Amino acid sequence: MSEAPSAQMLDALKAIVGDAGWLCSAEDTAPFSRDFRQLYQGRAALVLRPNSVQQVMAVVTLCHQESIAIVPQGGNTSYCGGATPDASGHQVILCLSRLARVREVDAQSYTMTLDAGCTLQRAREVAHAAHRHFPLSLGSEGSCQIGGNLSTNAGGTAVLRYGMMRDLVLGLEVVLPDGSLLNQLKGLRKDNTGYDVKQLFLGAEGTLGIITGACLKLSPQATDYMTALVAIDHIGSAVALLSRLRSHFGEIVERFEYLPDIAHQLLLQHIAGVTPPFATSYPALVLVELQAPGPWPELTARVEDFLGAEAAASHILNAVIAKSFSERDAFWFMREHIPEAQTREGASIKHDVSLPISALHDFVTRATALISSIAPEARIVGYGHVGDGNLHFNVSPPAGVTRDSPNEAAFLALAPTITRAVHDLVAELGGSFSAEHGIGQLKVGELTRYEDPVALTLMQRIKAAVDPKNIMNPGKVIQYPSDKS
Ligand code: FAD
Ligand code: MLT
Ligand code: ZN
Repeated sequence: MSEAPSAQMLDALKAIVGDAGWLCSAEDTAPFSRDFRQLYQGRAALVLRPNSVQQVMAVVTLCHQESIAIVPQGGNTSYCGGATPDASGHQVILCLSRLARVREVDAQSYTMTLDAGCTLQRAREVAHAAHRHFPLSLGSEGSCQIGGNLSTNAGGTAVLRYGMMRDLVLGLEVVLPDGSLLNQLKGLRKDNTGYDVKQLFLGAEGTLGIITGACLKLSPQATDYMTALVAIDHIGSAVALLSRLRSHFGEIVERFEYLPDIAHQLLLQHIAGVTPPFATSYPALVLVELQAPGPWPELTARVEDFLGAEAAASHILNAVIAKSFSERDAFWFMREHIPEAQTREGASIKHDVSLPISALHDFVTRATALISSIAPEARIVGYGHVGDGNLHFNVSPPAGVTRDSPNEAAFLALAPTITRAVHDLVAELGGSFSAEHGIGQLKVGELTRYEDPVALTLMQRIKAAVDPKNIMNPGKVIQYPSDKS
């Protein structure tokens, strides 16, 4: 059970990080105490910004002694309130942004070792400068940090080929809740020495320790790219296209993203610089990218042949291949701005679901019918990482409903019913109610409802063993007995 920090304790914490390393006024701490989606506004006793692993260890050791709760924070871009303190004003935010050194790039071993506070964009740039590729790619990459990516096990647009963040990690350095340092930073591909304890911290959302460094896996840099927008009639056609594309081109199929027409319309309406790729609109588009560490003989010509055959067989409705890097960027600009376009349209009820890819069509058909029966005029904006079976199956209010209006409130009042229907269907089809955005504080109840009870008990036992005082991000991910009081 965590305690309120005394004034003396706050002074001791400030002294550890020095004058440049803390914020404490309500005004200064407020932005750190609010989540990206503005679902939660907490209150922090202090924001600490250590600039070394030793400082992190000293802070955690003291908080452990005095039973002060710590909320780790990276770029604060996550969607489930995992990095936001509660409203008590007792919790300390530990922000990693000043811990941002590149420790080593080993191009021959295809590894790089970074501090947890490096942004994802910086990590990608560092890899690029060494003629290597770090494939994790998210719309938030300018702000989110490697520590946050590891702690949420982030996904994004290259999972189809490279897996999630968990698959990109070779080694980890973690400050445990008692202040001791777990040093597992070896960049080894093979290391069967007992339990792989670093896995515990990946996707743990800061509930088991503070990640301070990571050794990440790199890949060869691509020289040949092929990016295309393909028009199709529905999600079932996207799934079938993906299947044929993969048999034809193998593992160089890197990204496969689904954009229903409504997402495209919202982009045209709200995002400056988006232009329609086709003269007419289609029910849906797929953004597909192949990347090869080339030269891949006549990649574009082979894709053109493939798409020509797809069109001749009426599997696809139209296609356009990017002819330059700026056209490629314009296609990705569209994809990456869907969340913003939907936000600008108004409130939305978000679902981050994954299913077996073969079940996506059935899911979309049935979920659409369920939502229509609850909110007939609501607009479903179901887009995303179809190549991973992951859809952001979001629901926008009926057209014309303005922000903060009574009609919007009436729409949002339906959220629990809509979400229950969607998540129950996902469970029935063998899917997950949280594909890549995690649990945070938003989905603790959903985890309790849908998770295998044996797995849930195991999670609680792990938490109790690693963090018996429950000082690491209490109230997030799992319900812990002392969270209830
Ligand atoms: P934060 O939000 O700061 O923290 C996330 C969680 O990790 C919290 O529980 C926090 O306590 C914990 N944490 C942070 N740092 C540490 C650390 N060093 N040690 C221990 N715990 C820590 N996510 C996807 O998966 N795929 C996407 O495609 C995607 N696209 C996005 C697009 C946009 C425009 C935005 C705004 C977000 C998107 N996200 C996406 C969500 C988000 O960017 C990711 O979840 C990201 O990994 C969060 O990183 P962060 O540094 O912002 O973490
Ligand atoms: C995305 O893929 O764009 C994000 O994960 C979803 C979002 O930002 O809403
Ligand atoms: Zn996503």
